[in-house]
Amino acid sequence: MKGVILAGGTGSRLYPATKVTNKHLICVYDRPMLYFPLRTLIDAGVTDILITSGGEHQGAITSLLGSGKSFEIDGKKKEDGGRVIDVNITYRIQDRAGGIAEALGLAKDFVGREKFMVILGDNIFEDNVNGAVQEFLKSNTSACIFLKEVTDAQRFGVAELKNEKVIGIEEKPTQPKSNLAVTGLYLYSPDVFDVVKTLKPSGRGELEITDVNNHYVKQGTMIYSVVKGNWTDAGTPESLYKAAGLVREKEGKR
Ligand code: G1P
Repeated sequence: MKGVILAGGTGSRLYPATKVTNKHLICVYDRPMLYFPLRTLIDAGVTDILITSGGEHQGAITSLLGSGKSFEIDGKKKEDGGRVIDVNITYRIQDRAGGIAEALGLAKDFVGREKFMVILGDNIFEDNVNGAVQEFLKSNTSACIFLKEVTDAQRFGVAELKNEKVIGIEEKPTQPKSNLAVTGLYLYSPDVFDVVKTLKPSGRGELEITDVNNHYVKQGTMIYSVVKGNWTDAGTPESLYKAAGLVREKEGKR
């Protein structure tokens, strides 16, 4: 299976660090943010990976990761006990910050005709999601989202469940219908690229991933998995601070 990391956006919530670098290159405790979504993909068996980002800091991203050869999964050198693996990284530029779903559209040629995995570059998961991925690959459903109970649901896409089925998702609702955030990890069939083409920009002028997901909810072809371990995004000063604490707690001081 192939994987896509969406690492675009202006990173305005982490200004001024993002004046000079891409948000996803900022360190989360001991390594650049991008190492975490890469690890989530690799631990699910995905090593053929596309990274989409804005053009401004593409040089720095390429300097960090190169072709993906000898990638140090845990941010540690082999001689220091780190796991090292060859992955195959392809890059694509998103010319303007037009939203997550617009960036996803850029992956069409890379993905081809197989089901694939998408992760937002600022999402940090503790869980290995390989089990859910294998289940999705075997199923005849078209999309899968990963939900996590949170205390600040207004910050996220929020799923409403009925009889253990997702019946709707709202993007950053002021009055969330549940405490289940839609995390930035998605599994899709390639027909998602036709869905992206039908989208209209939202109030914030972006093509929203929540609109993509609601398409599958309406069609009845969306399944979900609940994330058991820790999860956070790292795109605001507070969540970046929290993410660093989680990494330090789980993997020890360095
Ligand atoms: C995006 C999605 C949102 C999702 C979140 C997860 O929000 O739009 O649905 O819950 O990622 O990190 P953003 O980070 O663009 O505010």
